[in-house]
Amino acid sequence: MKICAVVGARPQFIKAFPVSQALRRDHEEVLVHTGQHYDETMSAVFFTELGIPEPDYNLGVGSGPHARQTAAMMEKLDAVFDDEQPDVVLVYGDTNSTLAAAMVAAKRDCLLAHVEAGLRSFNREMPEEVNRVLTDHASDLLFAPTETAVSHLANEGITDGVHLTGDVMYDAILAVHDRAMAESPILDCLNLRDGEYLLATIHRPANTDDPKTLKRIIQTLGDAPLPVVFPAHPRTVARLEEFELLDMAHNNLRLISPVGYRDLVRLLAGAERVATDSGGIQKEAFFLDTPCVTLREETEWVETVEAGWNILVGAAPDAIRAGLTHEFALNVDAKPTPYGDGHAAAKLSDILSREAPLAVKN
Ligand code: UD1
Ligand code: UDP
Repeated sequence: MKICAVVGARPQFIKAFPVSQALRRDHEEVLVHTGQHYDETMSAVFFTELGIPEPDYNLGVGSGPHARQTAAMMEKLDAVFDDEQPDVVLVYGDTNSTLAAAMVAAKRDCLLAHVEAGLRSFNREMPEEVNRVLTDHASDLLFAPTETAVSHLANEGITDGVHLTGDVMYDAILAVHDRAMAESPILDCLNLRDGEYLLATIHRPANTDDPKTLKRIIQTLGDAPLPVVFPAHPRTVARLEEFELLDMAHNNLRLISPVGYRDLVRLLAGAERVATDSGGIQKEAFFLDTPCVTLREETEWVETVEAGWNILVGAAPDAIRAGLTHEFALNVDAKPTPYGDGHAAAKLSDILSREAPLAVKN
């Protein structure tokens, strides 16, 4: 079967890492990079480090307002699908690259498969929520990472083609964990020791695009009880520059460039806790037994909160401060395993082999 898998943003490269390996055992994969992320540290580093195959196409779309970026991707993806005539278009997660590929595939004579289907924040102000709802409703095969995701889909009337696979990000972290712990030089490079620093990542528009909110977050992180390492997303750096807040990042708050996946895993494993608004990092913290303080009002990864490993604090300084000193009562042995068994990628590839020939297009 010929599968066009579409990626474009950092979290999608990490999700594609185990999935691409599994797909290539049984299928012909054509990997398409939209070019949504393009900096070396946001894109190429993951392909090199994780051995992800070079994309067959890079559409070079780059940054832009939502409609322009999505439209540019759609036009170029349609041309790729004309040339390749895939049986299946496979999309990941909830970015504009996901939506663009989904909208194009939905109107063509191919199946649309969605990895990480059924996630919901129930906050339509997030662009990702719009992207994932529309993508799920256009998909023929839906690979849900959790039981919660399956039930969200059922509540929206989507039951056909839904498969509970577990989370491919669990597969990814298992594949790199041991080497990351043994080989990553990042703690030495930053002169840090396990348990003696916090990790922070902030990139959501709700936290970065309003100067007052961003300033308060930076100020509060800077006053944390331990040094804070902050690998900053380019969106965040751009806003810090624009709002003239870069100077606030000094001493206790160490702003560094985005790091590769192995270094991120090493930093996260050694952190006393992480403060983040990232989707992926909330789960990775859970996998690595690191407490997580989420600077959002809601999360798609509710299992991490229910298990007591993640608290939602929003962006108000008092709430962040409370989160940074919150005493987590954690029991590693009693930790549930809601994200599968680490074989989600192989499962979804098998399901494609079995179900795609029989699936009826939406
Ligand atoms: C996107 C996704 C978000 C995901 C995040 C992962 C959408 C709507 N959002 O957000 O769901 O959590 O990726 O990181 O798809 N930039 C660079 N270099 C790059 C990439 C981006 O400088 O390589 C800067 C540009 O100023 C750009 C800004 O970052 O305007 C935002 O990039 P964009 O891809 O539009 O959204 P993200 O915030 O990265
Ligand atoms: N990540 C990374 N280096 C960094 C920051 C994040 O490798 O400097 C990884 C992180 O481990 C996770 C993914 O990128 O797997 C998440 O990306 P991001 O937070 O940008 O997106 P989200 O998950 O919120 O969509």
